[in-house]
Amino acid sequence: MDHDVRAAVFDGTAEHYDEDTFHAPVAEALVAPLPSGPELVLDVATGTGFAAYAALRLKPSRVLAVDLSTAMLARARAKAAELDPSGTISWLAAPAVPMPADDHSADVVLCASSLHFLGAAAFPDWRRVLRPGGRLAFSVVSGARFKPSGPFAPLVPGDLRFPHDEAEAAALASSAGFVDASARTFTVDGGDRVRSVFLVHATAP
Ligand SMILES: C[S@@+](CC[C@H](N)C(=O)[O-])C[C@H]1O[C@@H](n2cnc3c(N)ncnc32)[C@H](O)[C@@H]1O
Repeated sequence: MDHDVRAAVFDGTAEHYDEDTFHAPVAEALVAPLPSGPELVLDVATGTGFAAYAALRLKPSRVLAVDLSTAMLARARAKAAELDPSGTISWLAAPAVPMPADDHSADVVLCASSLHFLGAAAFPDWRRVLRPGGRLAFSVVSGARFKPSGPFAPLVPGDLRFPHDEAEAAALASSAGFVDASARTFTVDGGDRVRSVFLVHATAP
């Protein structure tokens, strides 16, 4: 699908995106186990910036946060005065696959709540941008529960087999050549709705 059409769908979700209490804890949980002091963190399909802002706890030198949707990025930037006063995060409106980053330049790649929109092509690109030993952290929806519908259904590439358990989630990373892959189920109880994803952590060889 054309990137402009895709961006327009997400532009339409931007105004109320942060009212969804699911995405912030997912992003926080992805970042929590990562080591401090990375030079460059990439936030792939950053949306309103939950993972980019969460990454500031790692005390990175730089964060590059990329998303197709200018409306989502506007929401992200609007939080910078409070959450990133020193301007560590750069925001870029662009396709996130391939990431606009040099080969083997990144210490950390984050992708929160977005892999299902990017498809299998994300994995070789994450291998490309991560330096050896660099860390990958992404969330992925369960194949047992994920039923894309409405305007989002055409945005989901058909080339990714969504995992049914933690072993299959970790295998997404290990079969793409990452090492030390692990996955755990992460559940957010939003009161009227309980939602789960798999959190996957792995290392570039
Ligand atoms: C469900 S939101 C997740 C946003 C954020 N990572 C979070 O944790 O809340 C999915 C995001 O993916 C972005 N997106 C989808 N396809 C993309 C692509 N090919 N390149 C860049 N961004 C994309 C959308 O614009 C949207 O902001």
